[in-house]
Amino acid sequence: MSSQITIALSKGRILKETLPLLKAAGIEPAEDPDKSRKLVIGTTHPHVNLLIVRASDVPTYVEYGAADMGVAGKDVLMEHGSSELYEPLDLKIAQCKLMTAGKVGAPPRSSGRLKVATKFVNVAKQYYASQGIQADIIKLYGSMELAPLVGLADVIIDVVDTGNTLRANGLEPQELIAEISSRMVVNRASMKVKHKLIGQLLDQLSSAIEEKA
Ligand code: ATP
Ligand code: PRP
Repeated sequence: MSSQITIALSKGRILKETLPLLKAAGIEPAEDPDKSRKLVIGTTHPHVNLLIVRASDVPTYVEYGAADMGVAGKDVLMEHGSSELYEPLDLKIAQCKLMTAGKVGAPPRSSGRLKVATKFVNVAKQYYASQGIQADIIKLYGSMELAPLVGLADVIIDVVDTGNTLRANGLEPQELIAEISSRMVVNRASMKVKHKLIGQLLDQLSSAIEEKA
């Protein structure tokens, strides 16, 4: 139905930081998404429902039109790599940096292939290809910081905010790959068919972001 829209969100950081923005646009969840086991949650807005999905799955739901809109980190969007998504709004939340990191004081690699552990495999391939560096990319799903410590990799690619996680594990940031924040993404067909509702919502969110700044 063209009068209803669904927004895909992930629990945790994105949910926490997106809810105040949605509230300013007149959208409040009917129940607490952090406590509820429900994955489809109604809201105080008669035309808006929320879908609760894994952070890395948000672009997939929106690309296929299972959700009209979604909130995802730029890191996740870069890794997903689809040109099928509109990215009309920087929500300026969950800000961090996508970086390479290695053991404190480790000398730069002078020969051989670089071993890189990351969950951002596509980003890593593109990054090292663009630098003309031959790299073996090792896919991990979490706790990347461990990899250089146990000799699994020379470096990792992960998001860095305070740098505390790196420091706690004897690592240091090296190269900046991208500045990251969360973006509102919109399905292409939804943008056409539901442009009035989506346009209104984007305007309200945009004002809420400006007011916060
Ligand atoms: P998944 O559950 O799919 O593995 P995740 O655990 O990485 O995802 P979150 O930790 O909630 O999900 O992170 C969501 C987004 O928040 C990330 O994609 C990134 O853009 C941003 N982010 C991650 N870590 C930080 C951080 N320490 N500080 C600020 N922003 C962060
Ligand atoms: C994220 C990320 C880093 C850490 C960086 O993990 O994977 O490990 O934050 O932040 P820092 O530079 O401030 O230490 P998160 O805390 O979200 O836990 P997760 O690994 O479960 O996603």
